[in-house]
Amino acid sequence: MEYKNKNFYVEQISINKLVKKYKTPLYCYSYKKLKENINFIKSKFKKLSPIICFSVKSNSNLSILKELKKFKLGADVVSQGELMKALKAGINPNKIVFSGVGKTFSELAFAINNKILLINVESKNEVLEIEKIAKSQKKVVDIGIRLNPNTDAKTLKQISTGKKENKFGVDEKSFIDLVNYSKNSKYLKLKCLSVHIGSQIVDYKSYKKMLIVLSKLIKKLNFKFEYVDLGGGMGIQYQLDSKKLNYEMYSKAILKFKKKYGCKIIFEPGRSIIGNAGIIISKVIYLKENKSKCFVILDAAMNDLMRPALYGAKHRIIPSNKNNKKSKKIYEFVGPICESTDKFLTSNNFQILKQNDFIIICDAGAYGYSLSSNYNSRPKPAEIMIKGRKINLIQKRQKLADLI
Ligand code: LLP
Repeated sequence: MEYKNKNFYVEQISINKLVKKYKTPLYCYSYKKLKENINFIKSKFKKLSPIICFSVKSNSNLSILKELKKFKLGADVVSQGELMKALKAGINPNKIVFSGVGKTFSELAFAINNKILLINVESKNEVLEIEKIAKSQKKVVDIGIRLNPNTDAKTLKQISTGKKENKFGVDEKSFIDLVNYSKNSKYLKLKCLSVHIGSQIVDYKSYKKMLIVLSKLIKKLNFKFEYVDLGGGMGIQYQLDSKKLNYEMYSKAILKFKKKYGCKIIFEPGRSIIGNAGIIISKVIYLKENKSKCFVILDAAMNDLMRPALYGAKHRIIPSNKNNKKSKKIYEFVGPICESTDKFLTSNNFQILKQNDFIIICDAGAYGYSLSSNYNSRPKPAEIMIKGRKINLIQKRQKLADLI
């Protein structure tokens, strides 16, 4: 994804061409970037021979899941809907893990019937529910237990999941109780210790601390886990100069851990695979100035990309066609929704924009479309995937009639 003669291109296709054909706001993914990301993750963790389960919540587009399947990825799912999508995409059930604090009876039954690799349980209540289903079907169900390691992921508070105040996983004492309970159950086979401390992690030391907690616990338990599922969370660079995760150090620490405990490693990456492979193309509907700034009112809004409104996340915004004329005004990029948090970015160095220009919101591939909604009765945008010169429509734009 780059400029060619001042015009932005996704692989061989210019934004100018896309907006004519597909209108805006528009989600657009690059197949090449997706492939690069998968190969990057695979190469960084090669020595660990891990099972890589794509975290479907980050992007659950069926066509994208089908592409991931071709790269032999598994899936990390958190609902029956996501599990159904993963299966529909042809992902091997033996590479699917199911996480989440509130899996319902019917969701658990569906997962058990489909013989997925693991259900990562997050409470005693859930263990009892699984046991009930397993007993009634005379089955033995493979489970993992998710530990809350009380480790700071050093990321946004809203996307931290591994501190004791978070609802995820169980504390050490409950973990030990659950291990003992599962060991004595005829219907459960405990196979995995799972953990996920948060998302958009760029400091490998947080992961290292997490591994120390796991190590201590395994020693204490004296139990052999077939799998250790380390979750996802690997951060990406939303700003060009922001910190990068040191994969070498993380991988090295895991290798030591793996050798010591003789376990297979599972990862659940989402953002690191699809985050920077997707953009949103949006049109400037109006410009409105006040004394201090100029509002650039886009046709994309917080319902299309929630991250800025929900977490204060900052996504770079760039023009689709460069004119090299810097604006003296401060631009505030906002959407049309009736909420003051419907605001993407404030920029004081942007090029001069005018009505009907197009801009690009970067790194919107993860938790973009999957977090979108119909708030203000706005139809969801279309999604397209570019492969070289080919454009595939992978999600049709919703019609107003669909909403009414
Ligand atoms: N595994 C589990 C159990 C998770 O809860 C998550 C994300 C992942 C894996 C994938 O994490 P990733 O590799 O994508 O960081 N909506 C927020 C992110 C929420 C993440 C929730 N869990 C955002 O837009 O930043």
